[in-house]
Amino acid sequence: MTERWSPSSWRDRPIEQSPVYPDAAALKAAEAQLSTFPPLVFAGEARKLKRHLAQVSRGEAFLLQGGDCAESFAEHSADNIRDFFRVFLQMAVVLTYAAASPVVKVGRIAGQFAKPRSSPTEIVDGVELPIYRGDIINGTEATPEQRIPDPRRQLEAYRQSAATLNLLRAFANGGYANLDFVHQWMLGFVKESPQSGRYREVADRIADALDFMRACGIDPERHPELKSTEFFTSHEALLLGYEQALTRVDSTTGDWYATSGHMIWIGDRTRQPDHAHIEYCRGVKNPIGLKCGPSLKPDELMRLIELLDPENEPGRLTLIARFGADKVFDHLPGLIRAVKTEGRHVVWSCDPMHGNTIKSQSGYKTRPFDRILQEVRAFFDVHRAEGSYAGGVHVEMTGNNVTECTGGARAISDADLRDRYHTHCDPRLNAEQAIELAFLVAEEVKKERLARGPRQVIAAE
Ligand code: PEP
Ligand code: CO
Repeated sequence: MTERWSPSSWRDRPIEQSPVYPDAAALKAAEAQLSTFPPLVFAGEARKLKRHLAQVSRGEAFLLQGGDCAESFAEHSADNIRDFFRVFLQMAVVLTYAAASPVVKVGRIAGQFAKPRSSPTEIVDGVELPIYRGDIINGTEATPEQRIPDPRRQLEAYRQSAATLNLLRAFANGGYANLDFVHQWMLGFVKESPQSGRYREVADRIADALDFMRACGIDPERHPELKSTEFFTSHEALLLGYEQALTRVDSTTGDWYATSGHMIWIGDRTRQPDHAHIEYCRGVKNPIGLKCGPSLKPDELMRLIELLDPENEPGRLTLIARFGADKVFDHLPGLIRAVKTEGRHVVWSCDPMHGNTIKSQSGYKTRPFDRILQEVRAFFDVHRAEGSYAGGVHVEMTGNNVTECTGGARAISDADLRDRYHTHCDPRLNAEQAIELAFLVAEEVKKERLARGPRQVIAAE
């Protein structure tokens, strides 16, 4: 029997990656205030996402999850959100076409503020400072004052999440996500890309498909599904006081939901089965992501699945594999087999970013595009070999033209990194690299689809 759960039961468990707030009264006040604020998302929306993810778990849809490593207060602008959304939709269209099935769109956005770190401090100019833990906790500036955890930042993160979500909802439903627009943006990308030959064919086929639909009388102006899109939010549920304050009972079902975002995930550093983060996540009914890194053994994974998804509910759990390009073949097959043997309905997604971070010769934290791609390919290869479904990708990306990851069609070099290295945390794919990755993932998705053979068409009786 598992013990009784409450939104605060995590407080009795050991916890990793938790900031120490010097002003306990101020923390209490901020959490009390947050708990009176309206929910950011609704339980019904989280349930809808779970139904979509259940489709992914059955191999009937593909998951695209992506966004900033960490959102920041300083870069909160309509232009940044719009640029991200544009790139994300282009990726989704490429994947929808390749998979010939729906793409479930989940942003790392509108709440992705807290960061797990590998060390609690860092040395800057000979001075040891507390590490930066994300804008919801402390500041990036390398001064002792800025690095003190400040609870008021949680209110600011809530406010920013609400504003971001509001704009995303408007973009998704207000006509901006029109398939024709997205296709036009994509043609712009293809024209500019040094690899345009490679991408033109897919882009042209999508153009043909749109022309065909128009010829049949299906035009985006009259069909809401072509003019709008469904978009969901997600973030790492790391700062549990904040999450607790936004945990609410759904009036229609009586169940508890995290209302800070549609989907939340548990990081690779905070997935100890008897610790606080698993305790919190097991009690809320949202779709949950679990990062699976090289240290995760199959028996521990099965224990986590039992805790997080005791009812084996399709769509509840997304396992996000993040091993590093050269480690996928060693680690992933064992996990897939354990899941299969137990008959567990999970979504398998690939995060090709977090296992492939290196320090470049010039000292920047970077990720080589080739390694990212290699991890994605290995992920698909293993799933093909194991007869399981490679259901999605999880990436760190931005809509801007940054230089943080090396490689890609424009061959960003180590020396280029300094030009526009803007991330507050991990290196992200820039707009071009993100779309390029989508085209390359699309090739794998298509291979997977063809390997499974033609879809059964069941005639109506
Ligand atoms: C992240 O997704 O930003 C992250 C820190 O990932 P992981 O927990 O897999 O290292
Ligand atoms: Co990251």
